[in-house]
Amino acid sequence: MEEKKLRSQEWFGRKGKDGFIYRAWMKNQGFPNHLFEGKPVIGICNTFSELTPCNAHFRDLADAVKRGVWEAGGFPLEFPVMSLGECTIKPTAMLFRNLASMDVEESIRANPLDGVILMCGCDKTTPSLVMGAASVNIPTMVLSGGPMLAGRFKGKKIGTSDLWRFVEEFKKGELSQEEFIAAESAMARSIGHCAPMGTASTMAAMVESLGLALPDNATIPAADSRRKAMAHMAGINIVEMVRSDRKMSDILTRKSFENAIMVNAALGGSTNFIIHLLAIAGRMGIELSIEDFDRFSADIPLIANVQPSGEHFVEDLFYAGGLPAVMKEISGKLHLDTLTVNGKTIGENIQKAVCYDRELIGTLEKPFKPESGIAVLKGNLCPNGAVLKPSACTPSLLQHRGQAVVFEDIDDYKSRIDDPNLDVTADSVLVLKNVGPKGYPGMPEVGNMQIPFRLLSQGVKDMVRISDGRMSGTGYGTVVLHISPEAAIGGNLALVQNGDWIHLDVQNRSLTLEVGDEELAERRLGFKPLDLGYARGYANMFIQHVTQAHEGVDFDFLKGGSGPEVKRDSH
Ligand code: FES
Ligand code: MG
Repeated sequence: MEEKKLRSQEWFGRKGKDGFIYRAWMKNQGFPNHLFEGKPVIGICNTFSELTPCNAHFRDLADAVKRGVWEAGGFPLEFPVMSLGECTIKPTAMLFRNLASMDVEESIRANPLDGVILMCGCDKTTPSLVMGAASVNIPTMVLSGGPMLAGRFKGKKIGTSDLWRFVEEFKKGELSQEEFIAAESAMARSIGHCAPMGTASTMAAMVESLGLALPDNATIPAADSRRKAMAHMAGINIVEMVRSDRKMSDILTRKSFENAIMVNAALGGSTNFIIHLLAIAGRMGIELSIEDFDRFSADIPLIANVQPSGEHFVEDLFYAGGLPAVMKEISGKLHLDTLTVNGKTIGENIQKAVCYDRELIGTLEKPFKPESGIAVLKGNLCPNGAVLKPSACTPSLLQHRGQAVVFEDIDDYKSRIDDPNLDVTADSVLVLKNVGPKGYPGMPEVGNMQIPFRLLSQGVKDMVRISDGRMSGTGYGTVVLHISPEAAIGGNLALVQNGDWIHLDVQNRSLTLEVGDEELAERRLGFKPLDLGYARGYANMFIQHVTQAHEGVDFDFLKGGSGPEVKRDSH
């Protein structure tokens, strides 16, 4: 096979003035001349940041990648991109996912890179990097930072999902202030991203099942030496990918997206998976609809016994055989011929996988829960869809009729949810408006509203809650999310009033506001669009261009890709 000319040679291989300029300043880092003479240049796209604690170990990990790149005869060059720390960034990291993706896309295209390793960890750092890289489409692979070790508190293993329980226990006085702080110190005790199958691990599993990462990428703990060994192997692998010209478009096909949906169901992965996968498909020009998530996950039960849908942690899943062992259990349903970064098919990658612990990894015949995946609901409240994660729900609430208790926005909710006079019963349906893509803006993870304190102290553990927002991947409960169209643009959600009857029927995939069309039309006359108060800047652009939840919440002008070419030189 004749070797394709390296993209980086458009910079470094030039004669005369241009080549001089492209090479001379690079040499101030001590790189000798031969590195510029045709070695594959590998970008290490690093989301290291001390403000993104889940990715704070990425300097070390990048060094391991470099060792692999050098070993394989490549030339590694590390560069930073916008890093989104889920728990720190206001108003929500999701507001900036698309911005970070633009940083990644332009950084890759504008620079002399032949291949890229995307270093991803905390929730949004995976989709933003994959989306950006997809719009360039050069050989690319993902290296995830790995999950944290589970914490220990009062003799029990804990992780992010326990946070919700600690907060409730603290409110009820069952945890003292001192114990609350001790729990906080015990939870995130090691490097890595959240320990349960929250959004970060859901994303790491997504890239592995899509074929964009090496086998075991999703589960090796961050603190395990094998994570660094994997980083080293990723460095070797990306150089080979460049030599074989294996691009993202060779790996990301309609079939690989279907695989990812099935695997996510087997894991009980986060609902955030939906909007991120839709956005990535949009960048690749692959048709994927919200209905596909229901269709392809419908007959996949919960195979992995991992929080929040199960009991254990991603760390434990690794010891039990990792994602390949989970995928092997549903291999009869997967497309086994999809290509992956290492040049092998998914089928080849999982062939030798072994389950070491049936407590962690069930089978199709003996799953942990029969219902998993994503239920996509339709109805007059959500003509373009809403989603719910059956494995996180209370089974008795999957079929429920109740009266709405409405919160007009997040401030209204916060000021009244614990009001002892709030007119609410365990059968009520909590409705939160204006937390969608445009309404908040940025579609924050507030959909799993807390149970009103009065009911909580009576022992109520779950209620039907509906909104146009998202929920943390570690959250649980009978929570309807991603209602589209959202309230802020006049979706029927905006018209719900206190006392309206709402009918949730998961079996039949419907969510209905039991108010007649005429009455709704009348209420609509009184609808006023929100003044969000963002007259300028990025948030203004976000509100102008963001698409709805069922379309992936990407910007309308970012769909598709522009390829790797840059026509003009810089001088
Ligand atoms: Fe970063 Fe959970 S906060 S992964
Ligand atoms: Mg999150």
